[in-house]
Amino acid sequence: MLKIVPTDGALGADIEGVDLKKVDDATFAKIEDAWHDNLVLRFRGQDLDDDSLADFSRRFGVLDMAPTGRGGTPFDPGRPEITVLSNIVVDGEAVGALGNSELVWHQDMTYNELPPKASLLYAMEVPESGGDTSFYNMYKAYETLPEDLRARVKGLSCKHDATRTSSGELRHGYEESYTHEARPGAVHPFVIRHPASGRLALFLGRRPNAYVPGMPEEEGDALLDELWAHINDGPHAWTQNWRVGDLVIWDNRCALHRRNGLDPKSRRLMHRTQVRDEARPVAAWAS
Ligand code: SIN
Repeated sequence: MLKIVPTDGALGADIEGVDLKKVDDATFAKIEDAWHDNLVLRFRGQDLDDDSLADFSRRFGVLDMAPTGRGGTPFDPGRPEITVLSNIVVDGEAVGALGNSELVWHQDMTYNELPPKASLLYAMEVPESGGDTSFYNMYKAYETLPEDLRARVKGLSCKHDATRTSSGELRHGYEESYTHEARPGAVHPFVIRHPASGRLALFLGRRPNAYVPGMPEEEGDALLDELWAHINDGPHAWTQNWRVGDLVIWDNRCALHRRNGLDPKSRRLMHRTQVRDEARPVAAWAS
């Protein structure tokens, strides 16, 4: 019997009574509705391998390929849709991306023209402390935006940087520095209309190297700093403390996430899938 138990935070719910290896259509419909209502869902006590993780993820849509690992190749060439996130090193080689680093608030892969609508993260090994993942409700971020800031972002877009990870590491194949105009990335509206809920959400990607095309750099930076101060000072968050067997899915269009750092002596191993959206983010003001 599926049960939805909202967290005590500004987003997120536990879904109880579901084995993700056996989800029928009626159960999936309830899960999808709960995901739209709560933005982030957690399923505890799951027992998934890469096949069952990918199978459940595909219920939401077509899977995107993982961002490439160190050296520009997938971490597991046999499973290019699986992103391996880990601080484990074997024979001097990192088994996954992002290591022990703290990660800034971000949305996954918004440097692509068609960013993922969902990410699904499954915990295989977790440290006793550290490596918690926080989520931020971007509907509430928009709804509580001061009137003057709302007016200032109306009609504007932001360029999302493709060259660095959420830990600040340079991705394979990119240069150390670029001008804002030349930096690879994608341009998306600051405020989007969610295609399923119809609600408006701030769509910021991440702060480092963000750029407002068509605006003098100083003015654009000041606007971005004000928008990010609204997030950093805001209360609309919830933090996931991982247990082995947790599967968390978030709506990448209306939730940010970040992670605190890890003790290098601990071990953390997570596998992630990302589900491609059907269309590019649509501006709130588009007719
Ligand atoms: C991510 O940004 O998708 C990784 C989050 C985490 O490692 O908790």
